[in-house]
Amino acid sequence: AGYDLAVRGGQVATGFGTTRCDIGVKDGRIVAIAERITDAARAIEADGLLVLPGGVDSHCHIEEPQPGGGANEETFATASAAAFAGGTTSVVCFIPQWKGHGVWERYVDYRARAARGMLDHSFHQIISDPTDAVMEQEVPRVVAEGVRSLKVFLTYEPLHLDDAQYLRVLTKARELGCLVTVHCENYAAINWRTAELLKHGMAAPKYHAWARPPVVEREATHRAIALAELVDQPIQVFHVSCAEAAEEIARAQARGVKVWGETCPQYVTLTAADIDRPGFEGAKFMCSPAPRTREEHARIWEMIRRGTLDVISSDHCAFSYEGDRGKRQNGADAVFRDIPNGIPGFAARLPIIFSEGVSKGRISLDDFVRLTSTNPARLMGLAPRKGMIAVGADADLALWDPAKKVTLTNALMQHAVDYTPYEGMEVTGWPVATIRRGEVVMRDGKVQAEPGTGRFLPRGPYDLIRPRGITPDGFDPAPPPAVR
Ligand code: URP
Ligand code: ZN
Ligand code: ZN
Ligand code: ZN
Repeated sequence: AGYDLAVRGGQVATGFGTTRCDIGVKDGRIVAIAERITDAARAIEADGLLVLPGGVDSHCHIEEPQPGGGANEETFATASAAAFAGGTTSVVCFIPQWKGHGVWERYVDYRARAARGMLDHSFHQIISDPTDAVMEQEVPRVVAEGVRSLKVFLTYEPLHLDDAQYLRVLTKARELGCLVTVHCENYAAINWRTAELLKHGMAAPKYHAWARPPVVEREATHRAIALAELVDQPIQVFHVSCAEAAEEIARAQARGVKVWGETCPQYVTLTAADIDRPGFEGAKFMCSPAPRTREEHARIWEMIRRGTLDVISSDHCAFSYEGDRGKRQNGADAVFRDIPNGIPGFAARLPIIFSEGVSKGRISLDDFVRLTSTNPARLMGLAPRKGMIAVGADADLALWDPAKKVTLTNALMQHAVDYTPYEGMEVTGWPVATIRRGEVVMRDGKVQAEPGTGRFLPRGPYDLIRPRGITPDGFDPAPPPAVR
């Protein structure tokens, strides 16, 4: 047989149109796209199904220790199962840095941890302590290994950077040819509001949202972009939750600044009413930025349609509600400040965006493919190997039943944590099989991949994130290398 595998008779959605065709796979890669492929050792009949490029989740937290204590329960093995269950085949997750520590040791540690999973993976290197030794010696080494994005937090104790530190990271990223990804919320404003709320006895989970209204996100988004524009360093703004922050991105894009915006399923589904559920249940919806309103969801969809927000990731960052440490880690009497931030979303990401987006007519199928797979792969320098159905690309596919109606439950999510914030949500459209490098790793909900089969995806320099070579007045204290 000429091919190891043929996927036959499906509607193949490339993000640039959909046609009925067959896909031939050899040695884990797509080697033929043709009207009919018969010469294969094994065939999967995909009649009536969509064939999508496997999802690329470019923002997710796996096995990460948390600044406030505790750790993500998701291991690379459980994360892989959850991702495959939801049609996702590759991820970009995080290597942490703690203040007072370097990054090289953590990089080595995370390579080993990730190698135990089944997902193809790359990393963002978090920078929380940009000292001379870290920035001049360790970061260049980690980047040379293929970690081509640096992640910074403008809030969170003890991760946040001040403006001077952020400028230092931007400058080094420019020199090394990296993307910078940014969590944009104003640290001092949140601390001030938090202290005032707690002083007034307003400590329940819902006040998490009161401590960080849209204005603190808008301000930090504006500042993150302005400083990146000053340095001439491309950035991606993570988890945009509100139109006023997205508008800052749109304005900068209109000036030609290289800034991209990401959003997540929670910002088009969850609301302040969820985080205000009775008892301590609101803690299940504790993420930053906080869930907003139905009106804001409609505005986020509009920003997606305009292309201002062009990546939808999960920001999967999971803590069990009950579990060993009980009621979201610090007990059901914890004040909102002490409940760790983050919600699970690996397996829910594609079904929710397909259902709320494509099935409900808010976006096209092409948009869906680009938002959840092609765009994150391109922005992270993983395309065309990932995020595309093309000859030469890895054979990462999701076989999708566009008509299947499913009620989301925690069991369907296949992650390690004991709840999903989307319990009971009805979706139309569901992955019936996931194929990673030509291997069927999920079929009808059954994950069947060997731990240890996930591959590291080193990322070399790429054009999309090359600085523009434009500073406000032409003064460029650290010009990027001319040839990459
Ligand atoms: O609440 C969130 N999003 N937690 C995960 C870490 C982050 O801020 O992305
Ligand atoms: Zn601090
Ligand atoms: Zn964040
Ligand atoms: Zn995150």
